[in-house]
Amino acid sequence: MCGIIGYVGIENSVPKLIDGLKALEYRGYDSAGIAVFTDGGITTVKAKGRIANIEELLKKSYSALSSSCGIGHTRWATHGEPSDINSHPHGTERLRLVHNGIIENYIVLKKELMDLGYTFESETDTEIASKLVDLNYKETSDCFAAVKKSLEKLQGSYALGIIFKDVPGKIFATRKDSPLIIAVSESGNFIASDIPAVLKYTNKYYQLEQGEIAIVEKDKVTVYGLDGQIIEKKLCVADWDIDAAEKGGWDHFMIKEINEEPDSIIKTIRPRVVNGLPNLQLEELSDEKLASFKNITMVACGTAMHAGLIGKTAIERLARIPVKVEIASEFRYKNPIITKDDLVIIISQSGETADTLAALRLAKERGAYTLAIVNVAGSSIAREADSTLYTWAGPEIAVASTKAYTVQISVMYLIAVKLALSVGKITEEEAKNHMRILLEHTPVACEQALLLNDECKRIADKYKDSHDLFFIGRGIDYDIAVEASLKLKEISYIHSEAYAAGELKHGTISLITTGTPVIAVCTEDELYDKMISNIKEVKARGAKVIMICKKGAKGADDVADDIFYIPELEDGLYMPIPAMTVLQLISYYTSVLLDLDVDKPRNLAKSVTVE
Ligand code: AGP
Repeated sequence: MCGIIGYVGIENSVPKLIDGLKALEYRGYDSAGIAVFTDGGITTVKAKGRIANIEELLKKSYSALSSSCGIGHTRWATHGEPSDINSHPHGTERLRLVHNGIIENYIVLKKELMDLGYTFESETDTEIASKLVDLNYKETSDCFAAVKKSLEKLQGSYALGIIFKDVPGKIFATRKDSPLIIAVSESGNFIASDIPAVLKYTNKYYQLEQGEIAIVEKDKVTVYGLDGQIIEKKLCVADWDIDAAEKGGWDHFMIKEINEEPDSIIKTIRPRVVNGLPNLQLEELSDEKLASFKNITMVACGTAMHAGLIGKTAIERLARIPVKVEIASEFRYKNPIITKDDLVIIISQSGETADTLAALRLAKERGAYTLAIVNVAGSSIAREADSTLYTWAGPEIAVASTKAYTVQISVMYLIAVKLALSVGKITEEEAKNHMRILLEHTPVACEQALLLNDECKRIADKYKDSHDLFFIGRGIDYDIAVEASLKLKEISYIHSEAYAAGELKHGTISLITTGTPVIAVCTEDELYDKMISNIKEVKARGAKVIMICKKGAKGADDVADDIFYIPELEDGLYMPIPAMTVLQLISYYTSVLLDLDVDKPRNLAKSVTVE
């Protein structure tokens, strides 16, 4: 979604803003812009489309542009189509402002401002916010007071970066329900919507909290709390380095990130296995507390929600505790039945997804214990949950989530085994065996699945021109199918659906015609024969079947057109790890061979910070 960068320091801000914008590209955007102080004024350069358009404009018309202070923005359109005019920064002769989020009361504010004589050129809610700040600045002649007063009126979510013509060398920044950090370096200071935007220059930053206002100068950062008093901020250090946020020789972030999966599992799980047993390393969440939960609800969006599906299967099988999986955007508006005896597990790679964050707050309000599974340290969800279990996958840049999903499901297994042990459903010996499989065998299986790379490419080439593609599975294989289908459609734009194989004859099978590709995930031993029957049903209607199964799966040759024999794990519960690696690779190569923008698929954003 939208991205913010700002720099003030002893060097030229323009290349730094462009670097920052490029590092933010992965969040998804459709236009970009910068505004920098220039002799006695502010120069704005903005355009629809890629950042390359800004670079082109800078080269052609602003080749001498140099400034020690400026702000920049990548816009993912919400109010008004992508256009030069709707691009940020917005503002007036006196100021420029960039904004992430949504101003919900923009219609009321616009009317009030129009009554006072303001006119508007864009369709954005951001322009309204900028003019509200302008009005307050006119009235107070004080930048800080103008920002503070504006916040009293703004409703919705926002991270704002503002520069005032009268005070060169200062960036004003504030936020509510949309992330913003202040990063510090020897040669100057930054504002940014996330860490990768500044990693090239620094990994030290302050986390801005709700309603705080920061004044960022080249050698000074002053942060004011809600009461207007200066507050001391804790300096955070990101352990991500620039290599982790760059492609490092790979063609795309997505393929790099898929290949990082084995390592990510080890990094995430190893510190949480002590003496062979699962240890969540959460002092506040004792074994007694864990054993006390009557119900568990997983809440998340998209791929993270699909990780919750695997979590449900694992917890219900091992611990026999009932688990619901809820889509965050539905959960928050359905008056969910959640009590203080419940555990609500919130899953999010970014830790900033607006619906997921709102769901977390609702669960807390209802008295449930909230446990967040998050990849980004210090993100809103991580900070607000009662307990947070970080997935240490490192930065995930490609919009399509891959390694983050793998580590999310690894953590699901860890929690399932821990719960099962806490409620006495498994013995210590059994728990140790699970940990052995998870920590030692799954990374190896994942490595072996990566060796199927060329075969995945061949299959992608064979089916890339399909109109529709279906995934079928039963039990945990259905959970895999759902995520595999999302992965394929989001980056290849091929219509795809996932079906529980037993459900086909209740309607869906009418979609199968000659040549329709069906990917059948068949890793569940107990359900294997049932799957073969379902495969025969689609074969009889002309489907081309691609089977994902274990080595030696009997009868596969007789029914499938193509077969992937994936590495076997001693307990079928863990098969989603190697199976998904293969399915992610197939999606990746389909997108590559269709010549699509793999890492930044159309209309999508990495971090969905608006509801
Ligand atoms: C996955 O490939 C997606 N792009 C998307 O579904 C994502 O998982 C979802 O938006 C949730 O994001 P989060 O994990 O950052 O909360």
